[in-house]
Amino acid sequence: RIQRRHIQCRRDIDFFAPNLIAIFESLVPADEEIAKQRQLINSLNKLISREWPHARLHLYGSCANSFGVSNSDIDVCLSIDDKELGKAEILLKLAEILEAGNLQNVQALTRARVPIVKMMDPETGLSCDICINNLLAVVNTKLLKDYAMIDPRLRQLAFIVKHWAKSRRVNETYQGTLSSYAYVIMCIHFLQNRRPAILPCLQAMEATYVVRVDNIDCAFFDDVDKLHAFGARNRESISRLLWAFFHYWAYQHDYTADVVSIRTGTLISKHSKDWTRRIGNDRHLICIEDPFETSHDLGRVVDKFTIKILREEFERAANILQYDSNPSVTLFEPYVP
Ligand code: GTP
Ligand code: MG
Repeated sequence: RIQRRHIQCRRDIDFFAPNLIAIFESLVPADEEIAKQRQLINSLNKLISREWPHARLHLYGSCANSFGVSNSDIDVCLSIDDKELGKAEILLKLAEILEAGNLQNVQALTRARVPIVKMMDPETGLSCDICINNLLAVVNTKLLKDYAMIDPRLRQLAFIVKHWAKSRRVNETYQGTLSSYAYVIMCIHFLQNRRPAILPCLQAMEATYVVRVDNIDCAFFDDVDKLHAFGARNRESISRLLWAFFHYWAYQHDYTADVVSIRTGTLISKHSKDWTRRIGNDRHLICIEDPFETSHDLGRVVDKFTIKILREEFERAANILQYDSNPSVTLFEPYVP
């Protein structure tokens, strides 16, 4: 069912850019909230260093990659090199330390796919999930944050796409739709491929940041202050980009052949990755390559039912942006089963 429709964008598309910017601004967390998050990390670091002097906490995910909306839970990673304890034991001990430190609702989920300790800080009211040694997530958080500093349209686009995905209930990996992380990668890929390009491919440039994590070499250009004029030759408004993003995923993307890859900055073939057939539970119906764990398809959670739901939602969004008289309202109408 590949339809390569190349329709023209409506003439008045730029008129609702200000509405979209207003929606973006309403979603961005206030500075006080960011300050609270740092404060919580500092006090947790103090608590933990008494027990484990060499352990460190890192913020990752949307509270650190600059794609977080206000009031989201914060994601924290404990980096620790304890040869004696297994992951589950570290989590249980961590839970003890947190309880003794007066944090509330402390729960160790040692059997989850990603084992974590959950807790709530009564002082700041923030809830957070702490995982152990997930340093790749810390590195991909930095990559996303660096991309966000190059052109403001990335954050605008990704916030709006995430807001749409949450409203339409297609941001639920447990239900077979895509993670926020996957949507941000889709936005980066899209902006890398506008002509003129709005974003470069940081992993294809001379590396200024190099780390090796879990036997994976992570290397990219991170001197992004030098790149803030990169996208200036492209003057497309946020509403035009949003339209083109949904139009691409509704009518132009070749789901049978292509993989989105921000690592290379282009589309690569499913064939080259051997992602043409189902292997185990990985169906590869929409393929989004992780920038560092390249064998990892962020679309692997999507199955033959949810791919239909996703594509219908992309089409709905594209059609609203094309024809609706008040698209910035209709687009985000909550999904009602
Ligand atoms: P919200 O919580 O929805 O605002 O977004 P988020 O950016 O925190 O996204 P999410 O909860 O999907 O993921 C949190 C972080 O975990 C991401 O920013 C990534 O750093 C990491 N992550 C999530 N999914 C994957 C994955 O499949 N592979 C890898 N390597 N990292 C992932
Ligand atoms: Mg998160």
